[in-house]
Amino acid sequence: MDILMPVKFEDGKLVWLDVTRLPYEEVWVSSDDIERIARAIERLEIRGAPAIGVAAALALAVVASKSTGSRDDLLRNLETASQRLSRTRPTAVNLFWALKRVMNGVYELIGRGASVDEIRSFVIQEALRIQKEDLEANMMIGKHGQELIEDGDVILTHCNTGSLATSGFGTALGVIRYAWMQGKRIRVIATETRPLLQGARLTVWELMRDGIPVKLVTDNAVGYLMYRGMVSKVIVGADRILRTGHVANKIGTYMIALAAKRHGIPFYVAAPTSTIDPETRVEDLVIEERNPEEVKNILGRLLITRQDVEAINPAFDITPPDLVSAIITEKGIARPPYEKSLQEILKS
Ligand code: MRU
Repeated sequence: MDILMPVKFEDGKLVWLDVTRLPYEEVWVSSDDIERIARAIERLEIRGAPAIGVAAALALAVVASKSTGSRDDLLRNLETASQRLSRTRPTAVNLFWALKRVMNGVYELIGRGASVDEIRSFVIQEALRIQKEDLEANMMIGKHGQELIEDGDVILTHCNTGSLATSGFGTALGVIRYAWMQGKRIRVIATETRPLLQGARLTVWELMRDGIPVKLVTDNAVGYLMYRGMVSKVIVGADRILRTGHVANKIGTYMIALAAKRHGIPFYVAAPTSTIDPETRVEDLVIEERNPEEVKNILGRLLITRQDVEAINPAFDITPPDLVSAIITEKGIARPPYEKSLQEILKS
């Protein structure tokens, strides 16, 4: 199974697969312009919490390799880029985590009197390390998570959490991939994921590419399928997991978790520890509100309502911990109570 890596750093540029064009065409874009890269994140050409974090770190590597001036110039360019990138999307914590990791390293080096060349090379190496570690984390999430999967399972997943949402391989989809590679005969149900159809466009594309059996359903079919006994497990990803175990993920996740609880179906969340935010309280969690036009039009192509109606378009929702059976990370599986188990995972 070849691992698709949707975001790369090549010849001083960021290169990415524009996933808004999938499944119709595979278009790779490259740029060394921070404004263009920030817009790519805002437009979801690059999306999925870990992929956003990796892209932001690699974007700083782009700035570092482009900056030819003094140490002060380099620092100013990195700070300006970091501020612009941090304004792209508010919910996925991986973005802030990655920017902070690179910038904290830069400040530490400056404090130690490092030269401009040393800082430049640190930024590039640190960004590449973040990308590599994410890939390794995904493989470990897959390895731990497959223990929860049995031969014959029908696994429902929401949104896209695969290679296209990470540095490669995926989180929830990584668990499914790993289990499949172990020879477990599983089948997947992918929800279409209105309004931007990440499930229909991306999850279906990825799974069919790997030959993993998948059936597409509307978001509205989930409760009925569970009622009919057609789902054995749910696995989703996360954009931010709080200390308490509250999970921010693609809009619709909460409804799926509620239905799973009602039907006694395990509801698993798979995410790297870079998605865990031990600081933010649930009442302070910022849920991205996107352009209402995304709800009124199908992929910007077909108006499906009156142009003058108002629409609400939250991109994510929050699933409370009592609906989450387990959280699968690269460091192991956390079980309730999450306040304790997530702390242990973070410390290990
Ligand atoms: O708006 P998106 O497409 O960036 O939302 C993505 C999700 O909600 C994913 O489930 C989450 O980021 C985890 S991806 C491994």
